[in-house]
Amino acid sequence: MNRTASFETLKEGPSAEGTERAQPQLHQQAREIQPFGKIAKLPIALDEEACVSSVQALNQVLADTMVLRDLYKKHHWQVSGHTFYQLHLLFDKHFGEQSELVDLIAERIMMLGGISVAMAADVAEMTLIPRPPKGREEVPVQISRLLHAHEIVLEEARTMARQADRNGDDGTNDLLVSNVIRTNESQVWFVAEHVVDEPLVRAEGQETE
Ligand SMILES: [Fe+2]
Repeated sequence: MNRTASFETLKEGPSAEGTERAQPQLHQQAREIQPFGKIAKLPIALDEEACVSSVQALNQVLADTMVLRDLYKKHHWQVSGHTFYQLHLLFDKHFGEQSELVDLIAERIMMLGGISVAMAADVAEMTLIPRPPKGREEVPVQISRLLHAHEIVLEEARTMARQADRNGDDGTNDLLVSNVIRTNESQVWFVAEHVVDEPLVRAEGQETE
């Protein structure tokens, strides 16, 4: 008996009598109500062109932020070596902060009447961040990847913040400057300091008598 047949039997059996209104309506399909890339205008006193421009820009930042978020989780799991514990914790903290950014950016896109990119396969097509290997890499390589990804996000976020400002979209400008740019700059600092070649025990510039 296949799944549909067993469901029909259950629906029509004596024990199901009188439960018609309580039966879940399963396996429904219909055309999407808004295609990706189209704007369903909301009354937020912003012209459509400004919304279209901000939605496009924010979807690029969203895709790249999702990849950066996932890169942090990958490295949180795969990190190794004598700084394992601190980097394991730091990478997960940054993952959490990037996850918050993802939600802020995605919901800003919806507020502007657009549609946020959501699924990994679509994100993979859109992102500008190079795809890392599935395998494990050394800490300096992990860090270089993270710093490169941050720089891609920062560069586009700055350009897009200026564009939103010119279009009168203050909300998008504020999100990009106060949240995206400042969070990414702070994370770059915390990560980059780990690849400064400092001696662990004996100072290199030590004066000998
Ligand atoms: Fe964990």
